[in-house]
Amino acid sequence: VGQNYITIKEVDSTNNYLKELASNSKPVIEGTVIMAENQFAGRGQHQNGWHAEPGKNLTFSVLFKPGFISIAEQFDLTRAISLGVFDALEPLLGDRLKIKWPNDIYYGDYKLGGMLIENMIQGGQIKHSIIGIGLNINQENFPPHLPNAISLKQILHQDYGLEALLSEICKHIEAWYLNLKAGKTSFVRNSYLSRLYWLNEQKGFKAGNRFLEGTIKDVMFNGLLVIEDNNKHILEFSLKEI
Ligand code: BTN
Repeated sequence: VGQNYITIKEVDSTNNYLKELASNSKPVIEGTVIMAENQFAGRGQHQNGWHAEPGKNLTFSVLFKPGFISIAEQFDLTRAISLGVFDALEPLLGDRLKIKWPNDIYYGDYKLGGMLIENMIQGGQIKHSIIGIGLNINQENFPPHLPNAISLKQILHQDYGLEALLSEICKHIEAWYLNLKAGKTSFVRNSYLSRLYWLNEQKGFKAGNRFLEGTIKDVMFNGLLVIEDNNKHILEFSLKEI
């Protein structure tokens, strides 16, 4: 990951850029990384935008060709990438660092970053997976509509070199991806679960327009979140539902 590394000053979204590059006739090698200093139309989950002050944060996308992962099990890729980002940051941030289901990076109750994974399916297989990652690094203030955003600098009170961090992240993402490729699926799934924010804690959740209290118990092989409610009912939710 990152052997083929392209930086751009400004782009709408590194995911869009990489998607277009990968769909050109000239093949793009797996592990290609596109990093942008500024995205003027960065995209987040749920059709949200992704806010990042130019030059201060990590906004990049990685190309994978995970032909060995079935569509039903594509959440394993989400797990592996989340673990890679987690492991790169853990030496700096320690045990307040968590993975918030499905793929946010949290420090305590604050969001440090997230990812947008876009898979291109062809012939029943994942042909290309574009993994877009946004991490707040040296930004010192966030707009009021993002009250739970936090940056590395706000936590540790110093600036970080973006390229050094990126290369650390690439290294760890690659290691977890190779675990997956080597068939160590249970190891990947257990490791993901053990780093999960709110695991086994009594919390409140919003599922559509209903509010429920319960505890996150598990994440299904296919990525569904398993919650036990206060009546001991086991419920499963997709990202759209909760
Ligand atoms: C989220 O938590 O909502 C996901 C954020 C993903 C943001 C990254 S920044 C690099 C890549 N390009 C995009 O347009 N989005 C992702």
